[in-house]
Amino acid sequence: MSNDQNETARRRSLFSRRNLLIGGATASAGAVAGVGIELAHRGGTSGNNAGSDGHEGNPQAVASGDAPLASSRVTFGGKRQAGIATPAPAFGNFIGLRLRPSVGASDIKRLLRILSEDARELMSGRAPINDQEPELAAISANLTITLGFGERIFDVVNPGAKPSWLKPLPAFEKIDKLSDEWGAADLLLQLCCDDKVTLAHAQRMLLKETRSFGTVHWVQDGFRNSAGSLKKGTTMRNLFGQVDGTINPTTEDSSMDDVVYGNMDGLKPWVDGGTSLVLRRIHMNVDTWDEVDVPGREDAIGRKLSNGAPLTGQKETDPADLSATTPIGFPVIADYAHIRRATAQAPHEKILRRPYNYDLPVSQASGLAKAGSSTGGVSQTGLIFASYQADPIKQFVPIQQRLAELDMLNTWTVPIGSAVFAIPPGCEDDGFVGDFLFKE
Ligand code: HEM
Repeated sequence: MSNDQNETARRRSLFSRRNLLIGGATASAGAVAGVGIELAHRGGTSGNNAGSDGHEGNPQAVASGDAPLASSRVTFGGKRQAGIATPAPAFGNFIGLRLRPSVGASDIKRLLRILSEDARELMSGRAPINDQEPELAAISANLTITLGFGERIFDVVNPGAKPSWLKPLPAFEKIDKLSDEWGAADLLLQLCCDDKVTLAHAQRMLLKETRSFGTVHWVQDGFRNSAGSLKKGTTMRNLFGQVDGTINPTTEDSSMDDVVYGNMDGLKPWVDGGTSLVLRRIHMNVDTWDEVDVPGREDAIGRKLSNGAPLTGQKETDPADLSATTPIGFPVIADYAHIRRATAQAPHEKILRRPYNYDLPVSQASGLAKAGSSTGGVSQTGLIFASYQADPIKQFVPIQQRLAELDMLNTWTVPIGSAVFAIPPGCEDDGFVGDFLFKE
């Protein structure tokens, strides 16, 4: 069979399986869209499926030519889900869904299969089977789609498999001003991409699939520096202007495996290839931060604003010397400095920080008081603090406890949301994320 014939056969099989998976009200809408795409494909006008790389005859792909990001892809399947150890693209949307009370194990199974199938297509730059804007799927731009499970998925499908840490974190009373608006959810969709148009389309595709199963509880919409504006490998800056992400595990040695996938003494992954996400939404009061001079800002964190070097060093990568003192005997990195308080006190007490900035439209700035900040500000700004680790209780909680107890940064930051998710492993080509939970 030619590549074209293979692709047609593959999509026909996806199409008939999708008709089996979608039931009731969604079936007709999905079927109509699917037929449209099938017809478009036969006529050679669809943007998603002509040619071996899915790009021939695709106006969107032709328009993007050899633009480097257009066909940059991250693989969907495999031992681990993408979107964690893979480099963080410019935009990150985190969507928390609540399942309808009537949803049972077989519905969840169908939903996860549908989402996995769509994610596989979208990450490959191909339109899912019922995509009504297939042109928007052609630019992959490092799109990753990662699924996370809240407690409810386990309670309904397989209570015995639920990790013991999958529950709300203990309260950090001195700092938390948590709102349920950003609280626990049943299912997480994490979408990261270097192109906001691709991301918006992928998000819409996935949400269309979920609508008969549940409702959107929150969407946290984040960003980093755009692709191409920083040299590869440069650490991002947050909206306080700080270099943020210097001390982090990496795939260049075993630290990512150790910290995120529990491949070290004292840690155990909840399932091989699985991990966890602690998602804290942290308001940053840039209005009162404006009142602080550079030495005050650097003292609070223990690092220089210019290049992220520790106050005891010259370069970002210089190790911080926590024992260094000034000529009159004070620690150079203060007792209350964020990095002193956050630094690991035990080998396993480490996390992968993969945060995204958020910055809500200024017209919403009147909501500032809600986040515990002063009135009269013009910004609703902060971090979507995404922390991945094998075991949140052993790794994240002790760090957060120390920071809640004492951290100068708390003067300008307020945690306003908190949710924990189990991140399942990746899946085989014919499987779906979470399929192992349904096996006998
Ligand atoms: C808005 C809130 C926060 C801001 C603006 C912030 C900013 C920073 C900055 C600028 C650094 C230094 C550079 C680096 O290593 O990345 C840092 C380090 C770090 N932060 Fe945060 N952070 C925040 C919240 C948190 C939270 C909630 C945690 C965990 C509970 C955390 C854990 C860490 C750790 C583990 C380090 C590395 C410490 C070390 O030097 O070993 N941070 N943070």
